[in-house]
Amino acid sequence: MENAVNYPGAEKDIARLKEKASLSEEAFGRILDIISDEEIKYELKFNDIKEKDIEYMKKMGVLIKSLKNEVADKFYEHLLKFNKTRNILLSKEGLLEHLKITQAAYFEGLFDGIYDRKYFIYRLFVGFAHHSYGVTPSMYIGAYNNYLTIIWGLLEEELERGKINLNEISEFYRSVKKIIMLDEYLALETYYSNPFTTICPW
Ligand code: HEM
Repeated sequence: MENAVNYPGAEKDIARLKEKASLSEEAFGRILDIISDEEIKYELKFNDIKEKDIEYMKKMGVLIKSLKNEVADKFYEHLLKFNKTRNILLSKEGLLEHLKITQAAYFEGLFDGIYDRKYFIYRLFVGFAHHSYGVTPSMYIGAYNNYLTIIWGLLEEELERGKINLNEISEFYRSVKKIIMLDEYLALETYYSNPFTTICPW
């Protein structure tokens, strides 16, 4: 099958996605259309993600990947200030601690420079996980907005330390914004498109 998902670790990712979304084989087959080779190429092109952006993401990774725990702390600090998001984060014992770990891993993954089928499937999984917790699109988009602000802050610190120059900070930020917007699209795709909407609990 042309769009078979066969990267290392694929089975685990697929099992998680299927379980999370209670997906049937048939519904999962339709998801493969969202992550077909053509669709991935199309989305990368549509979001203007070029080789240069991938190179910048990797360079940025060398500078800021190690700050992943700090990023996760700042990210949840913001979400905990607001009742709606706070209620979700504190809805289960140990959830926040678990999320800080997965959030840090997610941050690292942004800068690997590999935006392939594995990447796309995980983003869909993440989107659906939020959907199933009642995270609304407005909470999601606001959170991504804050995410970009946090990353900008890290880049500014690198600029102050003389690790990057003014030209690099704007190039890096432009690239990371493209990737974040791609993630945002993939997450929200599960809110609006089949088969996710047909199995959506709300
Ligand atoms: C920038 C936006 C966001 C990003 C990048 C993000 C990232 C993630 C990641 C990577 C996971 C883990 C999925 C896994 O188990 O591997 C996750 C789960 C989760 N996130 Fe977010 N998140 C965002 C916004 C939010 C917001 C606004 C809320 C609302 C409070 C939220 C609440 C949750 C919850 C409750 C889970 C647990 C889902 C589960 O375990 O099933 N997230 N998020």
